[in-house]
Amino acid sequence: MECKLQLKWLMLAIICPLIAGAPSSMFKRDSPCPKENLNITGGSFVLSKGYSHGSLLRYNCPTGYYPSIQSRLCQDEQWTPKPKIRKSAECKKITCPNPRVFENGEVIPYKDKYYVNDTTSYSCHSDFKLRGSAVRVCKPNGKWSGSTPICGRDSDHCPDSGVPPGSSREGNMFNIDDKVTYHCESPLTLIGSKVRVCQDGGQWSGTEPQCYADFTYDTPEEASQAFSSSLKSNLAVSQQDEQNDQQGKKISMDQGGNLDIYIAVDASDSIDEKDFDNAKTTIKLLIDKISYYPVSPNYEILIFSTDVMRINSMRNFKRNEDDERNLINLIKDLDDFSYDRKGDKTGTNIAKLYSSILESMIMERDSNATTFSETQHIVIVFTDGQANMGGNPKPKVDQIKHLVTKNDPAREKKLDLYVFGVGQDVNQEDINDLVSHKDQEKHFFKLQNLEKVQEMFDNMIDESTSVGLCGIVWEGLENKRRAFPWLAQINIARPKGSNCMGSLVTSSYILTAAHCFLEGDTADKITVKLEKNLVVKVKKIAIHPGYNLTAKQHLGIQEYYEFDVALIQLEKAVKLTSNLRPICIPCTRETSAALKLSERDGTCRKHEEMLMSNELVEAAFTSEMETDYSPKTIKNITIKLGKYRDACVEDAKKAKGINVKDAKEAVTDNFLCSGGIEPKTDHVACKGESGGATYLNKKGRVIQVGVISWGAKDICKGKTRFNSQADSRDYHSNLFSQQIRAFLKEHLENDDIGNPLTFL
Ligand SMILES: *[C@@H]1O[C@H](CO)[C@@H](O)[C@H](O)[C@H]1NC(C)=O
Ligand SMILES: *[C@@H]1O[C@H](CO)[C@@H](O)[C@H](O)[C@H]1NC(C)=O
Ligand SMILES: *[C@@H]1O[C@H](CO)[C@@H](O)[C@H](O)[C@H]1NC(C)=O
Ligand SMILES: *[C@@H]1O[C@H](CO)[C@@H](O)[C@H](O)[C@H]1NC(C)=O
Ligand SMILES: *[C@@H]1O[C@H](CO)[C@@H](O)[C@H](O)[C@H]1NC(C)=O
Repeated sequence: MECKLQLKWLMLAIICPLIAGAPSSMFKRDSPCPKENLNITGGSFVLSKGYSHGSLLRYNCPTGYYPSIQSRLCQDEQWTPKPKIRKSAECKKITCPNPRVFENGEVIPYKDKYYVNDTTSYSCHSDFKLRGSAVRVCKPNGKWSGSTPICGRDSDHCPDSGVPPGSSREGNMFNIDDKVTYHCESPLTLIGSKVRVCQDGGQWSGTEPQCYADFTYDTPEEASQAFSSSLKSNLAVSQQDEQNDQQGKKISMDQGGNLDIYIAVDASDSIDEKDFDNAKTTIKLLIDKISYYPVSPNYEILIFSTDVMRINSMRNFKRNEDDERNLINLIKDLDDFSYDRKGDKTGTNIAKLYSSILESMIMERDSNATTFSETQHIVIVFTDGQANMGGNPKPKVDQIKHLVTKNDPAREKKLDLYVFGVGQDVNQEDINDLVSHKDQEKHFFKLQNLEKVQEMFDNMIDESTSVGLCGIVWEGLENKRRAFPWLAQINIARPKGSNCMGSLVTSSYILTAAHCFLEGDTADKITVKLEKNLVVKVKKIAIHPGYNLTAKQHLGIQEYYEFDVALIQLEKAVKLTSNLRPICIPCTRETSAALKLSERDGTCRKHEEMLMSNELVEAAFTSEMETDYSPKTIKNITIKLGKYRDACVEDAKKAKGINVKDAKEAVTDNFLCSGGIEPKTDHVACKGESGGATYLNKKGRVIQVGVISWGAKDICKGKTRFNSQADSRDYHSNLFSQQIRAFLKEHLENDDIGNPLTFL
């Protein structure tokens, strides 16, 4: 019954045995599938679990070829699809779609079929001008290089829309509201817009159609370019609402909670366990990528096969919105989700997936309709197969569209439906119906496998979106350096040697402690260690002008550390990457953005209020680096403010070389104080950790509030570490201090090598 329904929609008989009849558990699973007739001419195959039940056979062909059958699944002693006795599978030559559809010009050479590496050239008849590529080469992914050549006259409102290879066009009028309709030659599938309309602005609606064969793929480079440009324009929408101020200028709004992203990954049987872990990594990489944009989205993550499992719901994510570890917890839940838990895996129920997303969206709307209508909704689905149960997903997708846009074309930008088809089993035509079709934006991507999807994400690092974004860290991946991309270790070559920590605050400045340097330390003696294989040269050191170790000797303070801050300027700006980015410095516009404060609300006082208003502020600093350029340990502290501060400052009198009545002489308001065992036992800094950042994590963005300066008690002797004691206290230069801010502003606002900061 289900099968019939399927056939009507997909016309795919081969899928039926998977879903019709009794659940697969009722079959005997002991006997293996036959080994006969599985060979492929010109290629090879791999098996996920040998010849046993549930094993997936995948065919491989050399570059330039594709397998006539992509894969077979062993189920209940049978391969699906069943091998033919007389005709084995074969590797066939990849062809590119027919370029001879080119109008008003000539294609050379004129052939029946075009194979990989075949080169074609295009020229126009007189009176016509060529746009697009004059020479195109057939690529191994079944596409022509370059862009569609078009011979046009440019006499109409819109330029000639062209006839992409493999297609045919109806309509050859190019004035306002004129329509062109495309078809692809059988058996190719049309991806992109079937119908395009000439718009007022002289542009065609939608995206250029492309004719894909089953073996046609997007390369990771193509996909990453198209996806990041589409994503960027959408994330910019969510950042900048169309609300105008009096001058008619667009203003940025606080859009902290107004971006909802649903990510769904297919875990049906055709995906094996390795692929499943790969799918989880893919989700993490995607979330990582999105974290580069100045937005903090809400997430719902779903895994689907016959059934749909929510790793977390949108509602639940929003309920924990204020928890700084919300995103980290989400990643952890994803990591903990195991392959076995996904239940019945035989089907690919895409309809049910969209139905679940619709349910969540309805809950969001019911929770607050105003917020819902202001929210940007993004749905990203990864699937490796064809919907083979649950019916046609299109009606559910239409309901989602209706819920968000309320049939108002102006609201269409509030919804983005992306699908990544992975592998050759993807039913391109049906999926093309499930995605958004926005002008000049691609929403359907077809990649060869999940590794290519990940490669695509790796290609997505885009300096234009990430420069100037401070404090972005990523704790969800194996690579620990990514959680501390600002971390710097400083070594000064002297007979006794000297190590300090520092923090990258712009692409060319490192903030550290002044006491790391002695008179006579020149730039060439300083080594800065950032990321692996990166040698950075130091241009100069700037010490805070108020720093004077001997200033209070006459008062009984042998060494006085007020304004113990210094900046190291690098000769060249470093290239920012996910492993190398600056930490946020308070009272800058960049930090306002990190804290999601609007321009009006983003004052220095507001920063202090948001970060330092509790009497006990949870913060951390780091030890020296490991060989992987991440810190050996994270030291957790509570900065004592309000009623806790006095006792903390008082212990300074117990430090060697300090002999004063009033501890505040040594520890002025330009210091922060941590340490001790009340109410929690704090970690204490050791030598070599001086100059390091004392930082807070505020909703996933890291903001430095202090620089490690000195301590009342040294509890680290050589390699031995003693436990913290009541009076083991640390003092940190306070970055909210007016004089320290002035020093930072002077240098960092005039950074002519890297990216300067804007102070408030
Ligand atoms: C299939 O290929 C394998 C490895 O190339 C070969 O050993 C085997 O004889 C082939 N079987 C048939 C039936 O051709
Ligand atoms: C296409 O050309 C490249 C570069 O010359 C070559 O490496 C590749 O093997 C060729 N592919 C095919 C299918 O002929
Ligand atoms: C919905 O959210 C907005 C903005 O956060 C708020 O002002 C409004 O009071 C909320 N409405 C309801 C019914 O909760
Ligand atoms: C440091 O302070 C001492 C005592 O006030 C003063 O004599 C000395 O000149 C100061 N040094 C500098 C470099 O300002
Ligand atoms: C500090 O806290 C973090 C996060 O809670 C934890 O992962 C880390 O292990 C703690 N550091 C130490 C040294 O206990």
